[in-house]
Amino acid sequence: MHVFFLALANLFLLTSLVSADPQLIQPGEVWPDDRGRHIQAHGGGIIKLGDTYYWFGEDRSRDNDPNLRYVACYASKDLAHWQFRNQAVKADDPAKLGAGWILERPKVFYNEKTNKYVMYAHIDNKSYEFASVAVFTCDTVDGDYRYVKDFRPLGQQSRDIGQFIDDDGAAYLIFEDRPNGFHIAKLSDDYLTVEKDVHLFSKKQGGALEGGALVHYNGLYYVMGSKMSGWNPNSNQYATAIRLEGPWSDFKDIAPPEKNTYGSQSSMLLKVVGSKTTSIIFMGDIWKPHAQWDSRYLWMPLEIGDGKLTLPEPKPWTIHVATGETVINP
Ligand code: GAL
Repeated sequence: MHVFFLALANLFLLTSLVSADPQLIQPGEVWPDDRGRHIQAHGGGIIKLGDTYYWFGEDRSRDNDPNLRYVACYASKDLAHWQFRNQAVKADDPAKLGAGWILERPKVFYNEKTNKYVMYAHIDNKSYEFASVAVFTCDTVDGDYRYVKDFRPLGQQSRDIGQFIDDDGAAYLIFEDRPNGFHIAKLSDDYLTVEKDVHLFSKKQGGALEGGALVHYNGLYYVMGSKMSGWNPNSNQYATAIRLEGPWSDFKDIAPPEKNTYGSQSSMLLKVVGSKTTSIIFMGDIWKPHAQWDSRYLWMPLEIGDGKLTLPEPKPWTIHVATGETVINP
């Protein structure tokens, strides 16, 4: 009897591990990690190392120490199952910004030359007047990151940041600068500073945008951002260009404007290059400002090509990272 159950349990374990059916990604739902806890990677970013994706984001767990700010790191091979790795940042107000200080939208880059992991994050005081980036580094991807410094990129105000790694490996920081607009800026060789603007979208050019994200797909760059309405969703927009320097097209809505990006805000565009196709995934946050630990994620594969980009209506979907194929539930 006992042996029979053991065999049955083993069989079950085996089939669940080798199951050919990819796991559903369910926009707007609680997304449990390997411990069964809702993933805490809000305003996040992803890097891929080998065949593993690492997702970093704001860890707003309810039981965190309210004086500290946390960044969590998760790992996955299929983009659906995420293993909690570490609270990669547990910071105690390193820039002395006082009660209510802010650490948002962490993004990690791997620098091959220095063999270091470099994290950028928006660091601010309670009233968002410090408007700077913080830089943390680590020798391992999911280790304890050490605070290095904070600064204003190119001497300008910087609030929401985004990350972009081009096909040639070049690393860019996207940052929102209230007086001037929306920057796509190149990082220095060691990634420890922001070297130069590659393009600045002036406000006149539609560049009053935050939650910046960028992807290169089929010969075109697609940049995306949200309008500025704090935690409230708005209709996110995109523009395209052949070169990062521009000229850039006008900005257009990514979904019917009355949908307000289905209640979400852009955080990153993830490119999954598979053996059969390339998929671009919209990673957005559904914020719950009064219960941030319960903020949700809206990830959907985009309809993209020939200068057009659409965020489809959110529905559960699956991805097969090896082939790059995605299937949206009917
Ligand atoms: C949003 C921004 C968030 C957070 C929030 C605060 O516009 O994207 O990251 O800073 O404002 O109100």
